[in-house]
Amino acid sequence: MKIGLCGFGVVGRGVYEIIQKRHDMQVTKVLCLEDIQLPDAQAVKDFNDILNDPEIDTVVEAMGGLHPSFEFASAALKAGKNLVTSNKALVCTFYDELVPLAARMGVKLRCTAAVGGGIGWLSELERSRRVQKIQQVGGIMNGTCNYILDNMTRKGSDYMETLRQAQKLGYAEANPATDVEGIDTWHKVILSSNIAFGISLEKESVPVAGISRITAADVENFRAHGRVCKLISTGKRTEQGFSAYVQPTLVDEGTPEAAVPLNYNLITFVGETSDRMSFFGQGAGRYPTAYNVVQDLVDVLSGKGFYAPYGAPQQADNSETLRYYVRGSWAGEVTEHWGDAVITAPVAVSDIHAWLKENPEAFLAAIAE
Ligand SMILES: NC(=O)c1ccc[n+]([C@@H]2O[C@H](COP(=O)([O-])OP(=O)(O)OC[C@H]3O[C@@H](n4cnc5c(N)ncnc54)[C@H](OP(=O)(O)O)[C@@H]3O)[C@@H](O)[C@H]2O)c1
Repeated sequence: MKIGLCGFGVVGRGVYEIIQKRHDMQVTKVLCLEDIQLPDAQAVKDFNDILNDPEIDTVVEAMGGLHPSFEFASAALKAGKNLVTSNKALVCTFYDELVPLAARMGVKLRCTAAVGGGIGWLSELERSRRVQKIQQVGGIMNGTCNYILDNMTRKGSDYMETLRQAQKLGYAEANPATDVEGIDTWHKVILSSNIAFGISLEKESVPVAGISRITAADVENFRAHGRVCKLISTGKRTEQGFSAYVQPTLVDEGTPEAAVPLNYNLITFVGETSDRMSFFGQGAGRYPTAYNVVQDLVDVLSGKGFYAPYGAPQQADNSETLRYYVRGSWAGEVTEHWGDAVITAPVAVSDIHAWLKENPEAFLAAIAE
């Protein structure tokens, strides 16, 4: 296998180093905007040098972002090259373009590192769906949020102080919005649901609430009621079709989710035969993530393509009702008061997320039953 590697940052450099020790594949060209010298690969600045190289059969995209990643990815597939990417935003946003395109061209597309970094989550979903119907997917999919929430819970520290510490340690970006507003988790649960259920979720029908409004007083309220707050994603089959959402959730202190420390992930599927299966590990980091990119390359070598057949676009139906902890000007029915906050009567997930859009200064967390 001859590989054109696009992007030489955290993930790309890790992929390059792991492949250097292998005999079944070789990185022959690296697309990098900076001047670099590599002992065994040619550094190029123009993607066409990779695209038009007939020796290169597989492109690894590790640049991130949507553009030009999408243009490069679709050009590679159209040129008959396999594509392996760690970019969840890319595959989630352009699912309807990339997955059918790879199938049409008869080339392989894989993105295991995009959800769960080093955890073989998508490849296990692929195996799972071969022998059973998957009922539910989701869990803790963002290490930055988990690091912040875990530290606030254990130390009682406030949100900004914990975020700054996470940034200092490299667990949070200088601009943390994609992580703390739940967008990264949103991409991951949409992609996981699409693969688990063989559908293509309409993205705007999947609501997301993040953790950036949480305070130390909220966390103290949760502790007093035996609860721990985690950012939890959910995708599941319902009587109406499928529901999917991302929201802070108050889990019981004794649950596996409550015990997830630091920047780890815990991702779960519930299958009709296997019941609950959970996967714990490093959701990010150079070598864990690069490890799964290389796993995908080995899978491509053995003939594996995308994890599930492409399924038609589908609206999420979030009429399911849950109780919520709300700090803000909630005017609906209330069952309890926790400090300054209230516990709502059961309310539809779609309704409370619509309310949050009108009241962006509020903080809410679902109460896990
Ligand atoms: N880091 C992780 O732990 C992790 C885990 C799972 C998934 N991912 C995903 O993996 C992808 C890459 O993440 P990363 O952490 O490796 O990012 P990164 O460290 O910022 O690396 C991206 C690299 O791509 C380069 N690049 C961007 N646009 C380019 C272009 N047009 N042409 C050539 N090079 C270009 C960047 O160069 P400049 O710096 O010069 O812009 C940078 O070196 C993202 O989609 C991310 O979501 C990352």
